[in-house]
Amino acid sequence: MATVLSLSFLCLILVFARLSPVSANAEGDALNALKSNLADPNNVLQSWDPTLVNPCTWLHVTCNSDNSVTRVDLGNANLSGQLVPQLGQLENLQYLELYSNNISGRIPNELGNLTNLVSLDLYLNRLSGPIPDTLGKLQRLRFLRLNNNTLSGQIPMSLTTINTLQVLDLSSNQLTGPIPVNGSFQLFTPIRFN
Ligand SMILES: *[C@@H]1O[C@H](CO)[C@@H](O)[C@H](O)[C@H]1NC(C)=O
Ligand SMILES: *[C@@H]1O[C@H](CO)[C@@H](O)[C@H](O)[C@H]1NC(C)=O
Ligand SMILES: *[C@@H]1O[C@H](CO)[C@@H](O)[C@H](O)[C@H]1NC(C)=O
Ligand SMILES: *[C@@H]1O[C@H](CO)[C@@H](O)[C@H](O)[C@H]1NC(C)=O
Ligand SMILES: *[C@@H]1O[C@H](CO)[C@@H](O)[C@H](O)[C@H]1NC(C)=O
Repeated sequence: MATVLSLSFLCLILVFARLSPVSANAEGDALNALKSNLADPNNVLQSWDPTLVNPCTWLHVTCNSDNSVTRVDLGNANLSGQLVPQLGQLENLQYLELYSNNISGRIPNELGNLTNLVSLDLYLNRLSGPIPDTLGKLQRLRFLRLNNNTLSGQIPMSLTTINTLQVLDLSSNQLTGPIPVNGSFQLFTPIRFN
């Protein structure tokens, strides 16, 4: 009797498992949230199947040997729509390449949680609002290119603490206020700020 009961219970679980969709891991969910927020007329995100066990086989996504996402390469992909705060959950991300699209809205504060980021390329989009102060937490960043958007407000002083910065381009935005001259900004020539 006990065996029969537990067997039918097991069958119920199996049926239930088959009916409910298999969900991707947290990083797949985060990238799928981005996909859901973007219009993709050229179908560059077609391979982003959220039912796969992780996003490592998706095109334009690169993972490390632990199946954690290290690169998202979607420059020049004709994408419209907005970024999502969930991107901040990609804790091993090193390269976020979304330049030359038609992305609008704000840069999420949560991108400051991507502490392994080496390159943040959001140039040539239609991003607006401020440059988040939280980007100063990106202490491994070497390339920060936000040029040719409609970003406004001041350049956050927190960026002066990023000693790894090699290339910084904030030109062709609607930024106001002083250009920092101390910290890592001592190394840059003013012409780059336009
Ligand atoms: C980009 O997408 C728009 C539709 O949103 C389309 O009209 C245009 O041809 C696309 N451009 C390229 C280069 O694919
Ligand atoms: C850019 O995005 C806007 C909406 O944010 C849309 O109306 C426009 O068609 C897009 N342009 C292209 C070239 O996709
Ligand atoms: C990520 O960043 C946001 C805003 O900067 C913050 O509120 C949140 O606690 C952070 N999340 C984690 C997991 O660190
Ligand atoms: C960026 O914006 C500047 C100023 O509007 C413009 O001269 C330049 O051509 C833009 N860059 C590109 C690649 O479109
Ligand atoms: C640069 O100066 C500003 C105030 O003018 C300060 O908030 C910031 O921490 C300084 N940066 C460094 C790296 O000392």
